[in-house]
Amino acid sequence: MNPTPFKLERYFAQHEFTARHLLCSSDPESMSVRDLLALEPQASDGLFDTWLGYTEYPGASDLRTELAAMYECIDASGIIVHTGAQEAIFLFMNTMLEAGDHVIVHMPGYQSHYSVVEALGVSVSPWRANEAGGWALDPADLEALLKPQTRAIVLCSPHNPTGYLPSREVFDATVSFARKHGLWLFSDEVYRGLEHDCADRLPAACDVYERAITLGALSKTHGLAGLRIGWIATQSAQVLQRMSIFKDYLTISNSAPSEYLATIAARHSGTLIERNVSIVRENLRVLDKFMARHAMNFEWHRPRAGTIGFVRLRQERASSFCAELLQDTSVLLLPSTLLDYGDAHFRIGFGRRNMPAVLDYVDAWLETRAPR
Ligand SMILES: Cc1ncc(COP(=O)(O)O)c(C=O)c1O
Repeated sequence: MNPTPFKLERYFAQHEFTARHLLCSSDPESMSVRDLLALEPQASDGLFDTWLGYTEYPGASDLRTELAAMYECIDASGIIVHTGAQEAIFLFMNTMLEAGDHVIVHMPGYQSHYSVVEALGVSVSPWRANEAGGWALDPADLEALLKPQTRAIVLCSPHNPTGYLPSREVFDATVSFARKHGLWLFSDEVYRGLEHDCADRLPAACDVYERAITLGALSKTHGLAGLRIGWIATQSAQVLQRMSIFKDYLTISNSAPSEYLATIAARHSGTLIERNVSIVRENLRVLDKFMARHAMNFEWHRPRAGTIGFVRLRQERASSFCAELLQDTSVLLLPSTLLDYGDAHFRIGFGRRNMPAVLDYVDAWLETRAPR
């Protein structure tokens, strides 16, 4: 298997630690180990005493119990903890799909949702988001995408890169379609919990559909990407068994200190989410004004969830716009060429505390540029 390079990750590998100002990050403001431990008295003793042997293969049972509390119908035995959500995506695709299968994938999208399966010889049909409708999905499109070989739908909700959050009707219709045709529903929910209005939160797919696999992570909603903790939650014994067996050839088990810290984070999930959503809400107020000021240059659909949005450039190519911005100001945006989605959009991130200050650099730069 030889997947095509993950363009977004290669771009971050090149620029994330050299660009001075990141304005396209999908992970929100993070925190130090000290700050996380401060959530619980005595927690630092627990960290010092953490045993550095192998951990339980599906993840420490305390951690899985805390994660299961995020779901209605899943207990600790329905969860496998992975090294980041990325490992879980790779594992699901490798265990539940094979050459000759076909999958329907939410697009534009996160590259591992389609490149891993393509490398396995699985064909992919894009389920295209409609930009004019606020990047909405239309479940009525699914019937035409279905083939006799279709095995799965890959949904990302809340969505990377558009920030789209399906309505309850769209979500229910997607689940009904998957159920009617016996498809796996791989539901990437790594931004779930970051709805800008918590009343908009959708059920987890694993709670409403027996062939759904919910993907979670502490990287996004909780802002703890450095822990490298992700998981799947599912009612399917078949998925749990196959993924467990394959994981023996990848990471076997997770990092013990990470699992200890992740257990604390999951126990204080509400506090961490509140912190991140309040940063996002404040940033969005600033971003709204910025987008209104530059409406001649940018077309913007304000997301209802998550930490990122996808902006259309009205007159310029995204690749040259982002390259020029980076060169002149050391501000990093992500052009849509790296998301296999033409050259007219860029991804912007609004989950970091310094976003208003970074936006000021962009503002000043736009003012000084010759009109295009
Ligand atoms: C939609 C989506 N899924 C999965 C991942 C991978 O997450 P992790 O860093 O936990 O491996 C990302 C990271 O950007 C993402 O945006």
